[in-house]
Amino acid sequence: METYELNDGTTLPKIGFGTYPLRGENGIAAMTSALEVGYRLLDSAVNYRNEYEVGEALRRSGLPRDEVQIATKVPGRDHGRGKAIASIEASLEVMGLDRLDLVLIHWPNPSQGKYVRTWEGLVEAREQGLVRSIGVSNFTEPLLQEIIDATGVIPAVNQIELHPRFPQVDMRAVHARLGIQTSSWSPLGKRDAAYDEAPVADAAKAHGVTPAQVILRWQLQIGSLPLPKSANPERQRTNLDVFGFELTDAEVEAITGLGKPDGRLFGGDPNTHEEM
Ligand SMILES: NC(=O)c1ccc[n+]([C@@H]2O[C@H](COP(=O)([O-])OP(=O)(O)OC[C@H]3O[C@@H](n4cnc5c(N)ncnc54)[C@H](OP(=O)(O)O)[C@@H]3O)[C@@H](O)[C@H]2O)c1
Repeated sequence: METYELNDGTTLPKIGFGTYPLRGENGIAAMTSALEVGYRLLDSAVNYRNEYEVGEALRRSGLPRDEVQIATKVPGRDHGRGKAIASIEASLEVMGLDRLDLVLIHWPNPSQGKYVRTWEGLVEAREQGLVRSIGVSNFTEPLLQEIIDATGVIPAVNQIELHPRFPQVDMRAVHARLGIQTSSWSPLGKRDAAYDEAPVADAAKAHGVTPAQVILRWQLQIGSLPLPKSANPERQRTNLDVFGFELTDAEVEAITGLGKPDGRLFGGDPNTHEEM
């Protein structure tokens, strides 16, 4: 698996596995299958209520701990410096791990006004060795600037909604300027995937691949780290099999051109959408 180098000198696989809403025995089976077909990064969150399943899938896979990267996210109700550290300790406990590879602040929740203290908590958790890399999710440019100015620590990753209908051209430029790795949630576009749109369907035909593979290849060529979720082993496998072809610049541009200002899936604007 090819990797992205992060601003803290570590690496992440170029594609990760989205684990929401996989839970229970079926969830463990889907995650174990994802590890079997080759995923080496599992994206979880406290609010997905599947951290136990993530740890269990890792154990059942038989893979050495160091070969798989485990990510989770601190929820809104755990914002604050001490609470964020306690949240990470609780995640480790539930997962049965002694270290996480990546922890993100799940949503900034600007009206709570605690995202700077929360970021300080993540910085301290990293210093304590609880987590290797730290980042954020759903942060806007001003919010990124605020936590960087307050701590001097630049997030390694910002995980944002990013798919052909919402390609986040501006945020990707912000990340490039600051040295932050973009990661895409709902990378296929979930229930509103652009599989039938001409730029995607035509590229799929031209390269002899599926529309989902075109979208994931587009994610790589715009420099993002997509986290596709699938409970189906065959789709898990094909979603990972996107390193053997290359879209032309014109194809990449045409897919990006599907973007619309109101292209978000459910109105998840981080300035107004908050999750606890
Ligand atoms: N940070 C955040 O705020 C945030 C928010 C949302 C999501 N996330 C993360 O992002 C991950 C992925 O997002 P998502 O699940 O919303 O969207 P997604 O990965 O874009 O789409 C998942 C949906 O597409 C289907 N699918 C997967 N591969 C397919 C293929 N090759 N062809 C056709 N359909 C396919 C899946 O069904 P099957 O399972 O049946 O294949 C599922 O219904 C989540 O699991 C989570 O880890 C983060």
